[in-house]
Amino acid sequence: MAKIITVANNKGGVGKTMQAYQLSTHLAHQGNKVLVIDLDSQANLSTTLGVDVKRTMIPEWLIGDVEAEDVICASEGDHEFYKNLDVIPSSRHLANLAKLLILSEAEVRKNAGRKERLLRLRLEAIADRYDYVVIDTPPMLGDELIMSLVASDRVLIPTQAQDYSIDGLEELMDTFEIIKDSENTKLEFNIIPSMLNGRRKIEQQRLDELAQSFNVASGVRNLVDMQESISTRKPVFLMGKNSKGKADYANLWESLGL
Ligand SMILES: Nc1ncnc2c1ncn2[C@@H]1O[C@H](COP(=O)(O)OP(=O)(O)O)[C@@H](O)[C@H]1O
Ligand SMILES: [Mg+2]
Repeated sequence: MAKIITVANNKGGVGKTMQAYQLSTHLAHQGNKVLVIDLDSQANLSTTLGVDVKRTMIPEWLIGDVEAEDVICASEGDHEFYKNLDVIPSSRHLANLAKLLILSEAEVRKNAGRKERLLRLRLEAIADRYDYVVIDTPPMLGDELIMSLVASDRVLIPTQAQDYSIDGLEELMDTFEIIKDSENTKLEFNIIPSMLNGRRKIEQQRLDELAQSFNVASGVRNLVDMQESISTRKPVFLMGKNSKGKADYANLWESLGL
């Protein structure tokens, strides 16, 4: 059975897609069969993994109108690990998901009982084909994020310097707690500092504060390496031995047991 990991934060630009990209490629490179699900209508992760679709079929798959086979694509790139990596790609059309779910409410009820359970239901049907499922989510507390939390074993929460205050994470943690108390008692999470600037003392202070209430993992520095990784479509583990991004991510995955 696949381990299902969601990368989530209701804020934009905090490094979710970066983390989902580095994690999914790392796991595939280790020899795991990995399925990436891109639930952000911006589709940046799909593009970075070499998959572009005009119109995503994710809504139809969730509702049950099409099979998993119709939405799963092979990733594309110039390395061995891509053969271990499948993608359910996104596109602009996914922005209509909430509307489509309302229109299909009767079907959803019949299938899953509640729409929050739809993704879990669909993943149960294909979970034995993969070792890991990695889900990238949009920057809002909408259906995509809730469904992902209900379906997941674990949530990684990339968090940026100015958001280290506990206030900024409150809304997400409240949702997390509600889901943990109701739909998904096994859900675990880690907060991951995603763009650390080591010279700023204030950042360390805020991190220490945060660590008093939450599981905070070792972070990733704000590095040119990382931007290059996305623009050249090259995961950090393929970078040279002096790459700081490579070192930070290697530490992070090791500390998380991934
Ligand atoms: N550790 C890092 N160092 C430098 N730039 C980063 C780092 N992590 C992410 N970025 C950049 O920050 C921007 C936002 O990251 P992204 O992963 O797209 O955030 P999100 O998915 O949360 O909106 C992107 O341009 C990305 O390349
Ligand atoms: Mg993103």
